[in-house]
Amino acid sequence: MLKLVVLISGGGSNLRALLEAARDTEYPARVVAIGADREADGFEHAEAFGIPTFSVPFGGFADRESWGAEMLAQIRQWQPDLVVLSGFMRLFPASVVDALAPHMINTHPAYLPEFPGAHGVRDALRAGVEQTGASVIVVDSGVDSGPILAQERIPVLPGDSEASLHDRVKVVERRLLIQTILDIATGRIDLTEKSPA
Ligand code: GRF
Repeated sequence: MLKLVVLISGGGSNLRALLEAARDTEYPARVVAIGADREADGFEHAEAFGIPTFSVPFGGFADRESWGAEMLAQIRQWQPDLVVLSGFMRLFPASVVDALAPHMINTHPAYLPEFPGAHGVRDALRAGVEQTGASVIVVDSGVDSGPILAQERIPVLPGDSEASLHDRVKVVERRLLIQTILDIATGRIDLTEKSPA
């Protein structure tokens, strides 16, 4: 049974999908704790599923390093096999990435390496592309630059707003995330083999 710590910053709809998938006793992964860099709205899902949470507000620390050290300490308390960033909108310092790599993955609402960063959906819309995508990657010390574990193309439709496109992307993200975690839990994906691309 793969023990997961999931980190969020927002509403956690992708987290919710993972929690629902993990209700299936056949699914070989369990969320043991949910963390955030703020009092995230997505903590409501933790309450609904009876899962412990921790919040390490970024603004409460003098710098990124000290915030990262506290986040790492909180994560380690749960002894996870895998850390999952799912709408976590903060960059870890390299010290934290190095401590956890390669056992930390992230979902991104674009077809990496296209449109990395905090506004992948908006950037794709502004670029006027006909298709974008969703990706699940190993977290490295760059911005959405780690080895790609899964990704899928998604059409941009005429009249799409950022919200309508993001909602369509999230549906694919959730499926890719649930499948990727299953593949890691069953050994189909071996993260230690994923040398940086
Ligand atoms: C997801 O698309 C994630 O990839 C991006 O932010 C969104 C989070 O959505 N970083 P939610 O909080 O899971 O609803």
